[in-house]
Amino acid sequence: MKVLAVLYNGFKAAIEEPRLLGTVENKLGMDKWLAARGHEFIVTSSKEGPNSDFEKHIVDAEVLITTPFHPGYLTRELMEKAQNLKICITAGVGSDHIDLNAAVDHKIQVLEVSGSNVTSVAEHAVMSMLLLVRNFVPAHEMIERGDWQVSEVARNAFDLEGKVIGTIGAGRIGYRIMQRLLPFNPKELLYYDYHEIPPEAESAVNCKRVGTVEELVSQCDIVTVNCPLHEGTRGMINDRLLSAFKPGAWLVNTARGAICDEQAVAKALARGQLRGYAGDVWNVQPAPKDHPWRTMKNPLGGGNGMVPHYSGTTLDAQARYASGTKTILENYLDGKPQAHQNIIVGAGKYETTSYGLH
Ligand code: NAI
Repeated sequence: MKVLAVLYNGFKAAIEEPRLLGTVENKLGMDKWLAARGHEFIVTSSKEGPNSDFEKHIVDAEVLITTPFHPGYLTRELMEKAQNLKICITAGVGSDHIDLNAAVDHKIQVLEVSGSNVTSVAEHAVMSMLLLVRNFVPAHEMIERGDWQVSEVARNAFDLEGKVIGTIGAGRIGYRIMQRLLPFNPKELLYYDYHEIPPEAESAVNCKRVGTVEELVSQCDIVTVNCPLHEGTRGMINDRLLSAFKPGAWLVNTARGAICDEQAVAKALARGQLRGYAGDVWNVQPAPKDHPWRTMKNPLGGGNGMVPHYSGTTLDAQARYASGTKTILENYLDGKPQAHQNIIVGAGKYETTSYGLH
Protein backbone atom coordinates (compact mmCIF):
# COMPACT_ATOMS: atom_id res chain seq x y z
CA MET A 1 0.00 0.00 0.00
CA LYS A 2 1.24 3.48 -0.83
CA VAL A 3 1.01 6.21 1.80
CA LEU A 4 1.78 9.70 0.49
CA ALA A 5 2.57 12.54 2.88
CA VAL A 6 2.93 16.18 1.86
CA LEU A 7 4.81 18.01 4.61
CA TYR A 8 7.01 21.11 4.83
CA ASN A 9 10.81 21.09 4.57
CA GLY A 10 12.47 21.55 7.94
CA PHE A 11 16.05 21.73 6.59
CA LYS A 12 18.76 22.34 9.23
CA ALA A 13 16.25 23.02 12.00
CA ALA A 14 14.61 19.62 11.52
CA ILE A 15 17.93 17.81 11.62
CA GLU A 16 18.95 19.62 14.79
CA GLU A 17 15.49 19.35 16.41
CA PRO A 18 13.92 15.89 16.00
CA ARG A 19 10.73 17.10 17.72
CA LEU A 20 9.94 18.98 14.48
CA LEU A 21 7.90 15.91 13.58
CA GLY A 22 5.71 17.55 10.96
CA THR A 23 8.63 18.03 8.53
CA VAL A 24 9.78 16.07 5.49
CA GLU A 25 12.96 15.16 7.39
CA ASN A 26 11.25 13.71 10.45
CA LYS A 27 8.24 12.18 8.64
CA LEU A 28 5.77 12.44 11.53
CA GLY A 29 7.92 9.81 13.25
CA MET A 30 6.15 7.13 11.20
CA ASP A 31 8.68 5.90 8.61
CA LYS A 32 10.12 2.92 10.52
CA TRP A 33 6.69 1.86 11.74
CA LEU A 34 5.20 1.94 8.23
CA ALA A 35 8.22 0.18 6.72
CA ALA A 36 7.97 -2.58 9.34
CA ARG A 37 4.35 -3.09 8.28
CA GLY A 38 5.51 -3.40 4.68
CA HIS A 39 4.03 -0.17 3.34
CA GLU A 40 5.57 2.27 0.92
CA PHE A 41 5.82 5.74 2.49
CA ILE A 42 6.48 8.69 0.16
CA VAL A 43 7.17 11.97 1.97
CA THR A 44 7.58 15.17 -0.01
CA SER A 45 7.17 18.93 0.11
CA SER A 46 6.79 19.20 -3.67
CA LYS A 47 3.11 19.99 -4.11
CA GLU A 48 2.49 22.49 -6.92
CA GLY A 49 1.83 21.69 -10.55
CA PRO A 50 1.70 18.61 -12.75
CA ASN A 51 5.39 17.75 -12.25
CA SER A 52 5.17 17.84 -8.45
CA ASP A 53 5.67 14.66 -6.39
CA PHE A 54 2.15 15.23 -5.03
CA GLU A 55 0.52 15.01 -8.47
CA LYS A 56 2.83 12.16 -9.52
CA HIS A 57 2.12 9.93 -6.51
CA ILE A 58 -1.53 10.79 -5.86
CA VAL A 59 -2.58 8.64 -8.84
CA ASP A 60 -1.91 5.38 -6.97
CA ALA A 61 -1.71 6.35 -3.28
CA GLU A 62 -4.27 4.76 -0.96
CA VAL A 63 -3.64 7.12 1.95
CA LEU A 64 -2.88 10.83 1.72
CA ILE A 65 -1.48 12.67 4.74
CA THR A 66 -1.33 16.46 4.49
CA THR A 67 -0.68 19.33 6.83
CA PRO A 68 -2.45 22.71 6.88
CA PHE A 69 0.95 24.38 7.39
CA HIS A 70 2.09 23.48 3.85
CA PRO A 71 -1.18 22.44 2.26
CA GLY A 72 -1.27 19.96 -0.58
CA TYR A 73 -4.42 21.18 -2.33
CA LEU A 74 -6.47 18.12 -3.27
CA THR A 75 -8.88 19.46 -5.88
CA ARG A 76 -11.81 17.58 -7.41
CA GLU A 77 -9.76 17.21 -10.60
CA LEU A 78 -6.86 15.58 -8.74
CA MET A 79 -9.25 13.38 -6.79
CA GLU A 80 -10.60 12.07 -10.08
CA LYS A 81 -7.07 10.94 -11.01
CA ALA A 82 -6.53 9.33 -7.59
CA GLN A 83 -7.91 5.92 -8.43
CA ASN A 84 -6.77 4.14 -5.23
CA LEU A 85 -7.33 6.93 -2.72
CA LYS A 86 -9.46 5.87 0.26
CA ILE A 87 -8.54 8.19 3.12
CA CYS A 88 -7.09 11.67 3.62
CA ILE A 89 -5.65 12.45 7.03
CA THR A 90 -4.93 16.02 8.06
CA ALA A 91 -2.00 16.10 10.48
CA GLY A 92 -3.50 18.96 12.48
CA VAL A 93 -6.87 20.72 12.35
CA GLY A 94 -8.49 22.30 9.28
CA SER A 95 -9.12 20.25 6.12
CA ASP A 96 -10.23 23.02 3.77
CA HIS A 97 -7.30 22.25 1.42
CA ILE A 98 -9.18 19.07 0.52
CA ASP A 99 -12.25 19.55 -1.71
CA LEU A 100 -14.63 18.11 0.87
CA ASN A 101 -17.70 18.06 -1.40
CA ALA A 102 -15.67 16.07 -3.95
CA ALA A 103 -14.55 13.71 -1.17
CA VAL A 104 -18.22 13.11 -0.32
CA ASP A 105 -18.99 12.38 -3.99
CA HIS A 106 -15.99 10.04 -4.37
CA LYS A 107 -16.58 8.36 -0.99
CA ILE A 108 -13.09 9.27 0.18
CA GLN A 109 -12.87 9.63 3.94
CA VAL A 110 -11.36 12.80 5.41
CA LEU A 111 -10.17 12.83 9.01
CA GLU A 112 -8.27 15.32 11.13
CA VAL A 113 -6.68 15.20 14.57
CA SER A 114 -9.41 17.23 16.28
CA GLY A 115 -8.32 19.16 19.33
CA SER A 116 -4.61 18.45 18.75
CA ASN A 117 -3.50 22.09 18.50
CA VAL A 118 -6.49 24.12 19.68
CA THR A 119 -4.79 25.35 22.87
CA SER A 120 -1.72 26.33 20.84
CA VAL A 121 -3.88 28.47 18.54
CA ALA A 122 -5.96 29.97 21.36
CA GLU A 123 -2.77 31.12 23.09
CA HIS A 124 -1.51 32.64 19.85
CA ALA A 125 -4.79 34.49 19.25
CA VAL A 126 -4.74 36.01 22.74
CA MET A 127 -1.08 36.98 22.28
CA SER A 128 -1.96 38.60 18.93
CA MET A 129 -4.74 40.64 20.54
CA LEU A 130 -2.35 41.85 23.20
CA LEU A 131 0.40 42.76 20.78
CA LEU A 132 -1.99 44.73 18.57
CA VAL A 133 -3.86 46.50 21.35
CA ARG A 134 -0.64 47.38 23.19
CA ASN A 135 1.13 48.42 19.93
CA PHE A 136 3.98 46.03 20.74
CA VAL A 137 5.59 45.46 17.33
CA PRO A 138 6.38 49.14 16.55
CA ALA A 139 7.62 49.58 20.14
CA HIS A 140 10.02 46.68 19.78
CA GLU A 141 11.18 47.77 16.32
CA MET A 142 11.93 51.22 17.77
CA ILE A 143 14.19 49.63 20.36
CA GLU A 144 16.07 47.56 17.75
CA ARG A 145 16.55 50.71 15.65
CA GLY A 146 18.24 52.41 18.60
CA ASP A 147 15.44 54.98 19.07
CA TRP A 148 13.47 55.90 22.19
CA GLN A 149 10.30 57.98 21.71
CA VAL A 150 7.61 56.85 24.15
CA SER A 151 4.87 59.14 22.79
CA GLU A 152 5.23 57.67 19.29
CA VAL A 153 4.17 54.22 20.48
CA ALA A 154 1.97 55.19 23.43
CA ARG A 155 -0.26 57.28 21.12
CA ASN A 156 -1.72 54.06 19.75
CA ALA A 157 -1.46 51.75 22.79
CA PHE A 158 -4.47 50.66 24.86
CA ASP A 159 -5.45 48.08 27.50
CA LEU A 160 -7.28 44.84 26.76
CA GLU A 161 -9.35 45.38 29.88
CA GLY A 162 -12.72 46.94 29.22
CA LYS A 163 -12.90 46.04 25.53
CA VAL A 164 -15.75 44.26 23.75
CA ILE A 165 -14.27 41.14 22.17
CA GLY A 166 -16.12 38.84 19.77
CA THR A 167 -15.37 35.55 18.07
CA ILE A 168 -16.74 34.38 14.75
CA GLY A 169 -16.98 30.66 15.49
CA ALA A 170 -17.15 29.37 19.04
CA GLY A 171 -15.96 25.80 18.72
CA ARG A 172 -12.87 24.34 20.38
CA ILE A 173 -10.57 27.29 19.63
CA GLY A 174 -13.13 30.10 19.89
CA TYR A 175 -14.28 28.87 23.28
CA ARG A 176 -10.70 28.44 24.58
CA ILE A 177 -9.92 32.02 23.53
CA MET A 178 -12.88 33.27 25.56
CA GLN A 179 -11.75 31.21 28.57
CA ARG A 180 -8.30 32.79 28.34
CA LEU A 181 -9.69 36.33 27.88
CA LEU A 182 -11.96 36.24 30.91
CA PRO A 183 -9.21 37.12 33.45
CA PHE A 184 -8.44 40.29 31.44
CA ASN A 185 -11.87 41.67 32.45
CA PRO A 186 -13.27 42.45 29.02
CA LYS A 187 -16.39 44.64 28.92
CA GLU A 188 -18.20 41.87 27.04
CA LEU A 189 -17.41 38.58 25.32
CA LEU A 190 -19.62 37.97 22.30
CA TYR A 191 -19.82 35.14 19.80
CA TYR A 192 -21.48 34.41 16.49
CA ASP A 193 -21.90 30.75 15.54
CA TYR A 194 -24.80 28.81 14.08
CA HIS A 195 -24.37 26.47 17.04
CA GLU A 196 -25.31 27.65 20.49
CA ILE A 197 -22.82 27.01 23.28
CA PRO A 198 -24.52 24.99 26.04
CA PRO A 199 -25.85 27.35 28.78
CA GLU A 200 -23.42 26.14 31.48
CA ALA A 201 -20.42 26.68 29.17
CA GLU A 202 -21.81 30.09 28.18
CA SER A 203 -22.14 31.21 31.78
CA ALA A 204 -18.68 29.81 32.67
CA VAL A 205 -17.09 32.46 30.42
CA ASN A 206 -19.92 34.97 30.70
CA CYS A 207 -20.35 35.28 26.93
CA LYS A 208 -23.36 36.26 24.85
CA ARG A 209 -24.46 35.01 21.46
CA VAL A 210 -25.40 37.50 18.76
CA GLY A 211 -27.67 36.69 15.83
CA THR A 212 -25.61 37.79 12.83
CA VAL A 213 -22.00 38.37 11.94
CA GLU A 214 -22.80 42.03 11.07
CA GLU A 215 -24.24 42.55 14.54
CA LEU A 216 -21.14 41.00 16.07
CA VAL A 217 -18.56 43.11 14.24
CA SER A 218 -20.49 46.36 14.75
CA GLN A 219 -20.26 45.94 18.55
CA CYS A 220 -16.69 44.73 18.95
CA ASP A 221 -13.42 46.52 19.63
CA ILE A 222 -11.65 43.26 18.80
CA VAL A 223 -12.86 40.54 16.44
CA THR A 224 -11.25 37.09 16.28
CA VAL A 225 -11.97 34.55 13.54
CA ASN A 226 -12.24 30.91 14.59
CA CYS A 227 -14.47 29.16 12.08
CA PRO A 228 -13.26 26.74 9.40
CA LEU A 229 -12.90 27.82 5.78
CA HIS A 230 -15.79 26.51 3.70
CA GLU A 231 -18.14 27.85 1.05
CA GLY A 232 -20.06 29.83 3.70
CA THR A 233 -16.97 31.59 5.09
CA ARG A 234 -14.67 32.07 2.07
CA GLY A 235 -14.22 35.84 1.59
CA MET A 236 -16.70 36.55 4.43
CA ILE A 237 -14.61 39.47 5.72
CA ASN A 238 -14.78 41.69 2.66
CA ASP A 239 -15.18 45.43 1.97
CA ARG A 240 -18.87 45.28 2.89
CA LEU A 241 -18.40 43.54 6.24
CA LEU A 242 -15.33 45.60 7.11
CA SER A 243 -17.37 48.78 6.70
CA ALA A 244 -19.68 47.44 9.44
CA PHE A 245 -16.74 47.12 11.91
CA LYS A 246 -16.35 49.80 14.58
CA PRO A 247 -13.83 52.34 13.19
CA GLY A 248 -10.40 51.49 14.59
CA ALA A 249 -11.22 47.89 15.56
CA TRP A 250 -8.56 45.18 15.74
CA LEU A 251 -8.94 41.94 13.80
CA VAL A 252 -7.17 38.67 14.62
CA ASN A 253 -7.44 35.74 12.23
CA THR A 254 -5.71 32.47 13.06
CA ALA A 255 -8.40 30.41 11.29
CA ARG A 256 -7.75 30.63 7.54
CA GLY A 257 -6.44 33.48 5.38
CA ALA A 258 -9.06 33.08 2.66
CA ILE A 259 -11.87 33.89 5.12
CA CYS A 260 -10.65 37.48 4.68
CA ASP A 261 -10.40 39.31 1.39
CA GLU A 262 -6.69 40.10 0.93
CA GLN A 263 -7.10 43.56 -0.64
CA ALA A 264 -10.07 44.58 1.53
CA VAL A 265 -8.08 43.96 4.74
CA ALA A 266 -4.97 45.77 3.47
CA LYS A 267 -7.10 48.78 2.43
CA ALA A 268 -9.07 48.84 5.69
CA LEU A 269 -5.81 48.88 7.66
CA ALA A 270 -4.26 51.57 5.47
CA ARG A 271 -7.21 53.93 5.99
CA GLY A 272 -7.49 53.17 9.73
CA GLN A 273 -10.88 51.42 9.57
CA LEU A 274 -8.89 48.59 11.12
CA ARG A 275 -6.31 49.71 13.70
CA GLY A 276 -4.55 46.37 13.45
CA TYR A 277 -4.61 42.95 11.82
CA ALA A 278 -2.73 39.89 13.08
CA GLY A 279 -2.64 36.21 12.39
CA ASP A 280 -0.61 33.39 10.95
CA VAL A 281 -2.80 32.18 8.10
CA TRP A 282 -2.62 33.35 4.49
CA ASN A 283 -4.80 32.85 1.42
CA VAL A 284 -1.82 31.19 -0.34
CA GLN A 285 0.84 29.27 1.56
CA PRO A 286 3.75 29.84 1.42
CA ALA A 287 2.75 33.49 1.00
CA PRO A 288 4.46 35.17 -1.99
CA LYS A 289 7.23 37.63 -1.12
CA ASP A 290 5.10 40.57 -2.29
CA HIS A 291 1.92 39.57 -0.42
CA PRO A 292 0.38 42.84 0.86
CA TRP A 293 -0.19 41.38 4.34
CA ARG A 294 3.56 41.11 4.92
CA THR A 295 4.06 44.88 4.98
CA MET A 296 0.61 46.49 5.32
CA LYS A 297 0.38 49.17 8.01
CA ASN A 298 -2.14 51.47 9.68
CA PRO A 299 -1.81 55.24 9.16
CA LEU A 300 0.59 55.44 12.12
CA GLY A 301 2.91 52.83 10.62
CA GLY A 302 1.96 49.93 12.91
CA GLY A 303 -0.88 47.46 13.32
CA ASN A 304 0.67 44.46 11.58
CA GLY A 305 1.05 41.26 13.61
CA MET A 306 1.48 38.76 10.77
CA VAL A 307 3.71 35.69 11.11
CA PRO A 308 4.08 32.49 9.06
CA HIS A 309 1.55 29.73 9.70
CA TYR A 310 2.89 28.26 12.93
CA SER A 311 0.46 28.92 15.78
CA GLY A 312 -0.79 25.34 15.70
CA THR A 313 2.61 23.76 15.12
CA THR A 314 4.47 24.36 18.35
CA LEU A 315 6.62 21.40 19.39
CA ASP A 316 3.92 20.47 21.93
CA ALA A 317 1.29 20.51 19.18
CA GLN A 318 3.49 18.48 16.80
CA ALA A 319 3.80 15.69 19.36
CA ARG A 320 -0.01 15.57 19.66
CA TYR A 321 -0.87 15.70 15.98
CA ALA A 322 1.87 13.24 14.96
CA SER A 323 0.59 10.76 17.51
CA GLY A 324 -3.04 11.39 16.47
CA THR A 325 -2.19 10.91 12.78
CA LYS A 326 -0.57 7.57 13.59
CA THR A 327 -3.62 6.44 15.56
CA ILE A 328 -5.96 7.32 12.67
CA LEU A 329 -3.73 5.47 10.20
CA GLU A 330 -3.41 2.48 12.52
CA ASN A 331 -7.21 2.30 12.90
CA TYR A 332 -7.53 2.41 9.13
CA LEU A 333 -4.92 -0.32 8.55
CA ASP A 334 -6.42 -2.54 11.26
CA GLY A 335 -10.02 -1.94 10.21
CA LYS A 336 -10.89 -0.45 13.61
CA PRO A 337 -13.49 2.32 14.06
CA GLN A 338 -12.27 5.90 14.13
CA ALA A 339 -13.00 8.36 16.96
CA HIS A 340 -16.10 10.18 15.71
CA GLN A 341 -14.75 13.63 16.61
CA ASN A 342 -11.95 13.15 14.04
CA ILE A 343 -14.20 12.32 11.09
CA ILE A 344 -14.94 15.23 8.75
CA VAL A 345 -16.19 13.18 5.79
CA GLY A 346 -17.16 9.58 6.44
CA ALA A 347 -18.35 7.11 3.86
CA GLY A 348 -20.04 9.46 1.40
CA LYS A 349 -21.27 12.11 3.86
CA TYR A 350 -20.19 14.89 6.20
CA GLU A 351 -19.90 13.72 9.82
CA THR A 352 -19.52 17.24 11.23
CA THR A 353 -21.43 20.50 10.87
CA SER A 354 -18.27 22.58 11.41
CA TYR A 355 -17.73 22.93 7.63
CA GLY A 356 -21.24 24.24 6.94
CA LEU A 357 -24.72 22.91 7.54
CA HIS A 358 -24.98 20.17 4.90
P1 NAI B 1 -14.37 23.43 15.66
O1 NAI B 1 -14.97 22.55 14.64
O2 NAI B 1 -14.25 22.94 17.06
O3 NAI B 1 -15.16 24.81 15.71
C1 NAI B 1 -15.50 25.54 14.57
C2 NAI B 1 -16.76 26.33 14.88
O4 NAI B 1 -17.00 27.23 13.80
C3 NAI B 1 -18.00 25.44 15.01
O5 NAI B 1 -18.65 25.71 16.24
C4 NAI B 1 -18.85 25.84 13.81
O6 NAI B 1 -20.23 25.76 14.07
C5 NAI B 1 -18.40 27.27 13.59
N1 NAI B 1 -18.72 27.79 12.27
C6 NAI B 1 -18.67 27.16 11.07
N2 NAI B 1 -19.09 27.98 10.10
C7 NAI B 1 -19.40 29.16 10.68
C8 NAI B 1 -19.88 30.39 10.19
N3 NAI B 1 -20.18 30.58 8.89
N4 NAI B 1 -20.09 31.40 11.08
C9 NAI B 1 -19.85 31.22 12.39
N5 NAI B 1 -19.39 30.06 12.92
C10 NAI B 1 -19.16 29.04 12.06
O7 NAI B 1 -12.94 23.83 15.08
P2 NAI B 1 -11.68 24.38 15.88
O8 NAI B 1 -10.87 23.25 16.40
O9 NAI B 1 -12.12 25.44 16.81
O10 NAI B 1 -10.85 25.02 14.67
C11 NAI B 1 -11.40 26.06 13.89
C12 NAI B 1 -10.49 26.38 12.71
O11 NAI B 1 -9.27 26.95 13.18
C13 NAI B 1 -10.03 25.16 11.90
O12 NAI B 1 -11.01 24.72 11.00
C14 NAI B 1 -8.82 25.70 11.21
O13 NAI B 1 -9.20 26.34 10.02
C15 NAI B 1 -8.28 26.74 12.20
N6 NAI B 1 -7.03 26.27 12.83
C16 NAI B 1 -5.89 26.99 12.63
C17 NAI B 1 -4.69 26.55 13.13
C18 NAI B 1 -3.44 27.35 12.97
O14 NAI B 1 -2.34 26.82 13.15
N7 NAI B 1 -3.52 28.61 12.65
C19 NAI B 1 -4.57 25.26 13.85
C20 NAI B 1 -5.87 24.65 14.12
C21 NAI B 1 -7.03 25.12 13.57
